[in-house]
Amino acid sequence: MINEARLKGIDSLEWLDIKLKLLTKEDLPTICVWRNSPEVLPFMLPKVHVSMSVLLVWLNKILNLDTWFPYIIIYKGQKCGYFELKNIDYINKICESGMFFSPKYIGCGIGSYIMFIREAILERLGVDDLISNVSIYNVKSLSHMRKIGGELLRKNGDILTFVNRKKERRSRIFSLAKAINMYDELINLINISGKLT
Ligand SMILES: CC(C)(COP(=O)(O)OP(=O)(O)OC[C@H]1O[C@@H](n2cnc3c(N)ncnc32)[C@H](O)[C@@H]1OP(=O)(O)O)[C@@H](O)C(=O)NCCC(=O)NCCS
Repeated sequence: MINEARLKGIDSLEWLDIKLKLLTKEDLPTICVWRNSPEVLPFMLPKVHVSMSVLLVWLNKILNLDTWFPYIIIYKGQKCGYFELKNIDYINKICESGMFFSPKYIGCGIGSYIMFIREAILERLGVDDLISNVSIYNVKSLSHMRKIGGELLRKNGDILTFVNRKKERRSRIFSLAKAINMYDELINLINISGKLT
């Protein structure tokens, strides 16, 4: 996976004060604590406590896949969250996205920047559309889905599945970037791959 990611230029990305680095075994104890915390666990799917051994098996399983890229998010030199693109379908240009932060960093505004960096990764992967599974109780993520033009695909019990199509998502995200005077920075970030949209 590391080699694949390196080829695609997504093994390590830095933007402003934020760095995304592919997850390693050394990061597992940290993300294990965050994922099991009361601030994060209720929003995880599945909503179950995970042990270090489960995480280790999981990481070993996905380590050589080019369809699952797990990242540790580093803000101003401190590990602060986890982000992933998974189940990447290169034929249909679609994948799933997921994220959680250390409780200490929830609500600090970093989520929006990850939303921008995600566009750069998708561009480099050649993936257009995003799928997200969100709990009906996850007010923040539901608001995020609305904000970036998510279409509800299905409801399965407490879980809503959204698709965020590239055209609508980009248009919303570009508008959001303009509103905070970050448009040029965003264009530069995405443009590293050589294409704008
Ligand atoms: C969801 C989460 C990652 C958002 O991060 P945050 O630090 O709380 O959010 P911030 O205040 O920094 O930034 C908010 C922005 O994050 C982005 N955001 C929120 N949920 C998001 C998600 N699921 N995926 C991507 N971006 C998201 C949005 O742009 C949002 O802007 P808005 O509040 O104006 O809609 C964080 O709250 C968290 O870890 N929650 C627990 C786990 C969780 O719910 N994960 C998502 C499962 S679908």
